[in-house]
Amino acid sequence: MKLAITLLANQEGVSMHQDKVIYQIYPRSFKDTDGDGVGDLPGIISELDFLETLGIDIAWLSPIFPSPQYDNGYDVADYKAINPLFGTMTDFETLVEEAEQRGIGIMLDMVLNHCSTEHEWFQKALAGDKYYQEFFYLRPAKEDGSLPTNWESKFGGPAWAPFGDTDLYYLHLYDVHQADLNWHNPNVRRELHDVVRFWMDKGVQGFRFDVLNVIGKSEEMVDSKEPGSNEEKALYTDTPIVHEWVQELNQATYGKNSELITVGEMSSTDVPNGIQYTNPERNELDMIFSFHHLKVDYEEGEKWSNPEFDFLSLKAILNEWQEGMSDGDGWNAVFYNNHDQPRANSRFGDVENFPFETATMLAQSIHLMRGTPYIYQGEEIGMTNPMFEEIDDYDDIETRNHYRIMIEKGKTHDEAMEIIQAKSRDNSRTPMQWTDDHQAGFTTGEPWLKLADNYSVINAQNELENDNIFKYYQKLIALRKEYSIISQGSYEGLALEHPEIMAYNRHLDGHDLIVLTHYYPGESSIEIPERFLNRPYRRLIGNGAQNELTETVTLGDYETVAFLIE
Ligand code: NOJ
Repeated sequence: MKLAITLLANQEGVSMHQDKVIYQIYPRSFKDTDGDGVGDLPGIISELDFLETLGIDIAWLSPIFPSPQYDNGYDVADYKAINPLFGTMTDFETLVEEAEQRGIGIMLDMVLNHCSTEHEWFQKALAGDKYYQEFFYLRPAKEDGSLPTNWESKFGGPAWAPFGDTDLYYLHLYDVHQADLNWHNPNVRRELHDVVRFWMDKGVQGFRFDVLNVIGKSEEMVDSKEPGSNEEKALYTDTPIVHEWVQELNQATYGKNSELITVGEMSSTDVPNGIQYTNPERNELDMIFSFHHLKVDYEEGEKWSNPEFDFLSLKAILNEWQEGMSDGDGWNAVFYNNHDQPRANSRFGDVENFPFETATMLAQSIHLMRGTPYIYQGEEIGMTNPMFEEIDDYDDIETRNHYRIMIEKGKTHDEAMEIIQAKSRDNSRTPMQWTDDHQAGFTTGEPWLKLADNYSVINAQNELENDNIFKYYQKLIALRKEYSIISQGSYEGLALEHPEIMAYNRHLDGHDLIVLTHYYPGESSIEIPERFLNRPYRRLIGNGAQNELTETVTLGDYETVAFLIE
């Protein structure tokens, strides 16, 4: 029984941000207009029409502030200016205006857990200024001369470095050039609130807060039982004071404007904290990123390994977050890709034999979930991991550190490279592939990072001209705006033990939207519960041949389909 269902269109005023889709731009790699090989703000402006055609609402820019770029801008040296590498403040203002004319808001990336060691605050502290020394976590060595704690930096090596030629050490949970800011100091918090207000005054529409849940280190720092362990992370992650400081940040800045969208990047968080960060009654954030579902190809929790991904745990984790956040009235950012992750199509599918099916089934499983979908540049045209063979072709600080560590631990060059090809953050940072011209139309110069060599086939121009991945993303985005069951429906996981198909249902006002996604090649079948059968339905979207909702549904290679049922 099939029927046209038209009554689910979104209604004015029902949702706040639920029908929005956010697109992440990695400015270094998006589009270069001055030939220096690094993307820039005029480049982003020149491609706003492309983003408008895709249909997104918000463009999140990875950091564009002055920075020595040890961590590609996540080491901020001045929070209130634009890095000349990317352009000028006037370029930024033009970008905000031009984006607004196309219905697109700009979201900035606020890196407030740490600043660059070249930031004036750190430089003044180094020069002996006591006021600024209190902006950082400075500690003496232990009595036995060892470091203040045994904590590990997330990029490898110890989390403490000598503070100039004093007897003190400063804490850096990330790179040695990224000094953690002491949020216990009210002057630090005041300065950071002021930064957020500065950009609000420039008309930005949202903020992404980098690793926001690790700002609450306890003032008295103690050794962990095992360096780098989860127990160690718990010493500085999601501590109760983080919620207080996020509420304070909210009240002092973006909480004054309900149009603004905020997302917190949460390292190793859990559902109860996720609910606290995003339940509207708590006035913290609109949504959060969590990452557990992107650790399903880690061997015993170790990123620098390369086993097959564990599909059942991928489903279990996504399901836990979907149900848990729904039950607690929280809100997820839903995503598979970003600038820190390898390309999801290379990771979870087959980009050689089924590039269209892989890309669209991954997109569909995310876009029809409960939460706000994020698209990372290049995902919408099917860009892949580049598979560079030499370590020198990789630029990322984390990758290079871990190459060294893997070799020190006895891996051969080839073994280490195989892991890096699968896991390096540079997998997603290669320049955007616009055309099949020289350097893929990204730059007229030498790109800062090599391009993937498949750009003559995989590029935006091809995608715009053919009915392929880009068009499928357009449809998914348009559907979210058209059907409130997608933006607002409840979520229920189905067939959680099915070894090859991810299945879930969205429910709203007596309607169901059943989404079936096959993560493997070949055929696979799934039994549909009776309560969804013998009701009027139609196929809302799919990437294959299946268009019948029957007792048993069979899906082909990486096939996905969604049925809307009255
Ligand atoms: C998370 C960012 O996404 C990543 O790129 C960065 O290296 C760390 N935070 C440190 O800022």
